[in-house]
Amino acid sequence: MSTATSSIAKLDIGARFRSTRRRTLDLCATLTPEDMMVQSCPESSPAKWHLAHTAWFFESFVLREKLPGYKLFNLDFPWLFNSYYRSFAEFPEKKLRASFSRPGMEEILSYREHVDEGLERLLEGSPELETLKTIELGVNHEEQHQELLLTDILHAFFTNPLRPIYMPEMKSQEDEDVRFLKADIRGSRRKSPNGFSTHPGEAPGTAGSGGANALRFLGFEGGLHEVGNSGEGFCFDNELPRHRVWLEPYSLADRLVTCGEYADFMADGGYRKPELWLSAGWDAMQQNGWRAPLYWSSESGDWSLFTLRGERCLAQMSAAPVSHLSYFEADAYARWAGRRLATEFEWEAAAEAVSLEGNMLDSGRLMPSRAEETIQNGGAQFFGDCWEWTASAYLGYPGFRALAGSLGEYNGKFMSGQMVLRGGSCVTPAPHIRASYRNFFAPETRWQFSGIRLASK
Ligand SMILES: [Fe+2]
Repeated sequence: MSTATSSIAKLDIGARFRSTRRRTLDLCATLTPEDMMVQSCPESSPAKWHLAHTAWFFESFVLREKLPGYKLFNLDFPWLFNSYYRSFAEFPEKKLRASFSRPGMEEILSYREHVDEGLERLLEGSPELETLKTIELGVNHEEQHQELLLTDILHAFFTNPLRPIYMPEMKSQEDEDVRFLKADIRGSRRKSPNGFSTHPGEAPGTAGSGGANALRFLGFEGGLHEVGNSGEGFCFDNELPRHRVWLEPYSLADRLVTCGEYADFMADGGYRKPELWLSAGWDAMQQNGWRAPLYWSSESGDWSLFTLRGERCLAQMSAAPVSHLSYFEADAYARWAGRRLATEFEWEAAAEAVSLEGNMLDSGRLMPSRAEETIQNGGAQFFGDCWEWTASAYLGYPGFRALAGSLGEYNGKFMSGQMVLRGGSCVTPAPHIRASYRNFFAPETRWQFSGIRLASK
């Protein structure tokens, strides 16, 4: 790497580091110290823990190794705020994170400042390319935790009988309309993929789309495709190596399945028909008492949906993408609709031709939103709104190599028993997502913003 390139990269990464660290604190602005202690489900962590753990990552993998003379902020923190890196240090059981009343919030914020000062000192020098890459990984790691912080708070507030609101409603419907208009304008700049055609969908549920445009299917020719990250910009190790896959001709829906369409599935007895469900899915549904997506309630007889902006009735959300579904529910819905879920490579081949725009964290909406009135030929909602469950198991690509050292535990050791999700959500930071990005969760997971795009053929 030339000196010029190195200094440009240093400036970029420094700016990205500062804005990311600031955003994490901004996301906590409406939370009380008590809110930040709650851990309401096994998947979640307290917001306070997220603040500490993201500082821990930079301290453990950057400052300790790369900043001469760096002093640990607290000798207990390297194990206390370790999440799962067994080769690095011991760590407490995840379910105990809500017990961390000490260290107090002031100390956690001081820890973050201590780490920030260390990073600034490091960036003032001449860090090696490998160091800059690890800082960049830390930034991406913190962005992942920003999304987790919000999904965890949504669950925490849903389980609170008072149903607190994370972010009050936008000032008026007008504000929403303006935001929507802007989204439409951005959407109109989308590129079109090569070799697709469109034809109307015939899936049941279209009639109940609740005002969303009629579902159409985009046809793709298939053939030999390259998938995986193409080498421009940051990516995680699980997006590599880029390699070839063979795709048969296939079709993808031009938007996500809506709440209204999913309500049709429910009304048609979708949760009572074993023929629609995978065996493990039926068992999970029975054991957990699932009768609707997570955050749907029907105490008054009508469905209402809990969001980061408070309670919404189904009628208000019927054209918005359905969210907070397990893989099993997404799969059952697709079977009911006479369709299927896409493989991750079908999704990626289509999404590579679509602009990286959508309803993400930076839009400020904080919940999935209906697709634009006129969907362009490339389709809508590939990025943002909801992570899209795919039919692909989370596995290493041919030739996959995990990062060296403890960071090798970041992604690779989870490559069993999980399904891939693509595309990001309404709480994913916009700089974080790309077509090759692979998220992964166990198939019964519902607390993330996870939804459905139908595939066919
Ligand atoms: Fe982490």
